[in-house]
Amino acid sequence: MLNWLESRTGFVSMAKEFLTEDIPGGASYWYVFGSATLFAMILQIVTGIFLTFFYAPSANTAWESTRDIYLNPWTHTLLSIHYWGASAMIALVFLHLMQVLIWGSYKSPRELQWIVGVLLLLVTLVLGLTGYLLPWDMDAYFASQVSLNIAGLPPGGEILQLIAQGGPVMGTNTINRFFGLHVWLMPAALVLLVGAHLAIFRHNGAAGPVVDDPRKLKPGRFWPDQKFMDAAASFFVFVIILGLALFAPPYLDQKADPTNAAFQPYPAWYFLFLFGLLNFVPWLFSQIPGLASQANAPWVEMLAAIVVPTIALIVILILPWLDRSTTRAFASRGKILWPTFFIVVAIIGLSIYAQAGIQSKEAAGPPSLPESQVLAAPAEAATTTTTGTASAPAGNGAQVFAQNCSTCHGANGQGQPSVAPPLAGNPFVTGNPAAVINVVENGLHGQTIMGQTFGAPMPPWKGSLSKSDLAAVITYIRGGLGPNKASAVTESQIK
Ligand code: HEC
Repeated sequence: MLNWLESRTGFVSMAKEFLTEDIPGGASYWYVFGSATLFAMILQIVTGIFLTFFYAPSANTAWESTRDIYLNPWTHTLLSIHYWGASAMIALVFLHLMQVLIWGSYKSPRELQWIVGVLLLLVTLVLGLTGYLLPWDMDAYFASQVSLNIAGLPPGGEILQLIAQGGPVMGTNTINRFFGLHVWLMPAALVLLVGAHLAIFRHNGAAGPVVDDPRKLKPGRFWPDQKFMDAAASFFVFVIILGLALFAPPYLDQKADPTNAAFQPYPAWYFLFLFGLLNFVPWLFSQIPGLASQANAPWVEMLAAIVVPTIALIVILILPWLDRSTTRAFASRGKILWPTFFIVVAIIGLSIYAQAGIQSKEAAGPPSLPESQVLAAPAEAATTTTTGTASAPAGNGAQVFAQNCSTCHGANGQGQPSVAPPLAGNPFVTGNPAAVINVVENGLHGQTIMGQTFGAPMPPWKGSLSKSDLAAVITYIRGGLGPNKASAVTESQIK
């Protein structure tokens, strides 16, 4: 049968040729990073394809279909694997790159393999960036807004931002642009680049261990020695991904609410260092006498968001030509190894810096308020400082609603059958303000509301929300949900 197949396709000799690759110095667990990355990529493609069976890309369906994916245990696991698979893939690409860097395997004749590998890292990061938007929850929306705004920073960038965003504001077009990039263009680029990466690899052979004379190394076999180690490593990676997917699944935030300007977005962990850079450079400027006044200038932002990362990328790409010595011995490569070490430390440091920054901003509350008032009375400040910034109390009301009411009444006040009545389009909510205040303060039970009755009561909020939060949230449900257009409620009305 094999002869029959071979004479008609040549597949058997192709497979033999592929599997009998020599490994200089023998098989080693040090060489598994590349194939483990390949495994993670295949896992992402397979889970991603099945996720498209359930996901619907548009502003009205993205979050809703993602929620449905979360609500079914099978699709939830599928999504969790895809989520952790993405992290694993980025971590593995990074480890693989570090390994090539430390062992000097990018040197002649493997310069092009290095370049293709760096492009693969970029494509992987773009996949992470575009995938992050798709659930269309608060983090997805506001973190993507940060990156879209960065695209608009350089001269002429407005056009790029307009194209990526699909219009002047984020919406269905943005989701479709990101979706197209995430499921077609970038995966196609990924597969082509991986093909090139492997073909170049086979052309030059494995670099092997660092020795004086590589010709003296005894060759080992790809099959079965190295293949077994590769398979073992991929299996190990899969077990970790599956364990994380089952025991630490991701969660879905509230649906994207563009009016909630106080929201502090949290980027994916692999973008934290860029986020950190974005905050660190202006801070650095503010510390230098004479430059402090420039700290918040647009050009400083551009320096942090675009110029520094681009220069870093170019340096990485042309590394094989910057480091032209032919030796791969560690001792004589300090000029490369020390900077590598410092860059890794800087990336970790910037990530921690970004993490701390986001947490302290979250704790401080809406950034639109003067710091002194936030510190003096965080809750009171929101509605008492209505002068000028009319959007502040509404934004705060939306936040109070998202945190306290939306679990029962729905993210947009649309209600949930047999859980809680709709508040959007509900004439009671837009009617007499005193009656609404009474219900929200003291709770309610046993009423027939818009043709429905509810098993559990509406809890009283008097004890757990401050008077200003009550005023803000009631103002929000009366004027900010669906078609509701009723008057605002002030703190003195609550009193
Ligand atoms: C635990 C679920 C739950 C939460 C949380 C909740 N509600 Fe309710 N809410 C209900 C239920 C159930 C009813 C209907 C009670 C009944 O009459 O049986 C209701 C009724 C109401 C009504 C009266 C509607 C009408 O037509 O009579 C208002 C107004 C209201 N909720 C506002 C809020 C606000 C504002 C919040 C947040 C501060 C909130 N609810 C949080 C469950 C909830």
